[in-house]
Amino acid sequence: MATAKEAQANIGVVGLAVMGSNLARNLASRAGNTVAVYNRTYEKTDTLVSEHPEAGFVPSKSLQEFADSLRRPRAAIIMVKAGAPTDAVINQLVEVFEPGDIIVDGGNALFTDTIRREKAVRETGINFVGTGISGGEEGALKGPSIMPGGSAEAWETLGPILTSIAAVAEGEPCVTHVGTDGAGHVVKMIHTGIEYADMQLIGEAYDLIRRGTGKSPAEIADIFEEWNRGELESYLIEITAEVLRQVDAETGRPLVDVILDQAGAKGTGAWTVQTALDLGIPVSGIAEAVFARSLSSKPDQRAAASGLPGPAEEWTVDDPDGFVEDVRRALYASKIVAYSQGFDEIVAGAEQYGWDIKKGEIAKIWRGGCIIRAQFLNRITDAYEENSGLVALLTAPYFREALTGAEPAWRRVVIAAVQGGIPAPAFSSSLAYYDGLRADRLPAALTQGLRDFFGAHTYKRIDKEGTFHTLWSGDRTEIEGVDTH
Ligand code: 6PG
Repeated sequence: MATAKEAQANIGVVGLAVMGSNLARNLASRAGNTVAVYNRTYEKTDTLVSEHPEAGFVPSKSLQEFADSLRRPRAAIIMVKAGAPTDAVINQLVEVFEPGDIIVDGGNALFTDTIRREKAVRETGINFVGTGISGGEEGALKGPSIMPGGSAEAWETLGPILTSIAAVAEGEPCVTHVGTDGAGHVVKMIHTGIEYADMQLIGEAYDLIRRGTGKSPAEIADIFEEWNRGELESYLIEITAEVLRQVDAETGRPLVDVILDQAGAKGTGAWTVQTALDLGIPVSGIAEAVFARSLSSKPDQRAAASGLPGPAEEWTVDDPDGFVEDVRRALYASKIVAYSQGFDEIVAGAEQYGWDIKKGEIAKIWRGGCIIRAQFLNRITDAYEENSGLVALLTAPYFREALTGAEPAWRRVVIAAVQGGIPAPAFSSSLAYYDGLRADRLPAALTQGLRDFFGAHTYKRIDKEGTFHTLWSGDRTEIEGVDTH
């Protein structure tokens, strides 16, 4: 048997918790790959290697040994907790790697950290590639969607390796070189933001149907199963049916009724919104999803507010089948808004950071392996292929038509939610965004007037060039002005 000292592996994995182990097993299962593995505590390495002799892993007890076991240019994927643990491993790898080698961070790093790390590592001559990997534990094992950033040089070596393990959708691997430095991680971050919005919309749809029609979770599971055969077909719709159908073994009740209704979050959704705020991009669907999770997780406030008045009468719908169809359409329309907003953020990020991100390619690599994989992504690719300069995804002909078909139902659902006292923040904010975007005139004109009144912030006019200020505390004539505040 070869020892770890021989440079025999073409790829390495550092960090062998579930995601790292599964990714290492996936790599090892593809022809042509020999995988070096390393974990801070050797016990985990030992367990992985002994449980999977078929993988032919090359284990190491130290990072020096790990580096020695890799062929040049060395390439190693770090799968450790985002933040300080990632920095620690990078620093250690830099010590044992050489110029031309490649360090890949496959964790959910904040893209600005990736930009910083890439810059620092580049100075040593080593390539640093931040890559988004989506698909959870199963995706890592069987084929994730992979969103690598980093240099073109690194992509030459990494491309074939990552392609070998990526999911395949309609014959195409779900991986592409997204752009330099933080581009991969920003795209993964926004993917997860959209995942938040998708899940919130699904939750609102379920809640409205349940409370409006009195259907049981199992009956609603049937509805989602049905929806999954149409334009909403997606992984999240599919697993919603599975979760709703699950019965708790201990109590015999639907599992969804015994799960505490406080949603957790690791922070990626919040990053997506924070970044969007910095870029000036309204991602209201994603923001509402993040806030809805925060609200759910405030038990003291919720308990204190639980006696506040709601609608006087119990709310039910007259035509349950019609209502379910309305909710389906509202869900589809709101989903279009969430994706349109997410792609706006990708475009703005690319512009700000100088990345050449191909929007159609991103939609393509999200078609398989990742959490938001959906039939619908083909339509996004088509939209950008037809018009790469599309200013808002929701205005592409296919989506315009879909929104036109859904719009009356969307309004009925939001009205029903308001009348029934049922929170539907993502449905209603998506509709408000849609109405805002399509409006001929917005009250932003009044906002400008108010800003000028109290702060002399000036305004522009619809009928002539220039910047103006009204002498509000004087004779109220208008002068040309400059915002000096
Ligand atoms: C994925 C997921 C995954 C995880 C997110 C969100 O694409 O595989 O996005 O990365 O679900 O980190 O997790 P939270 O819901 O805990 O924030």
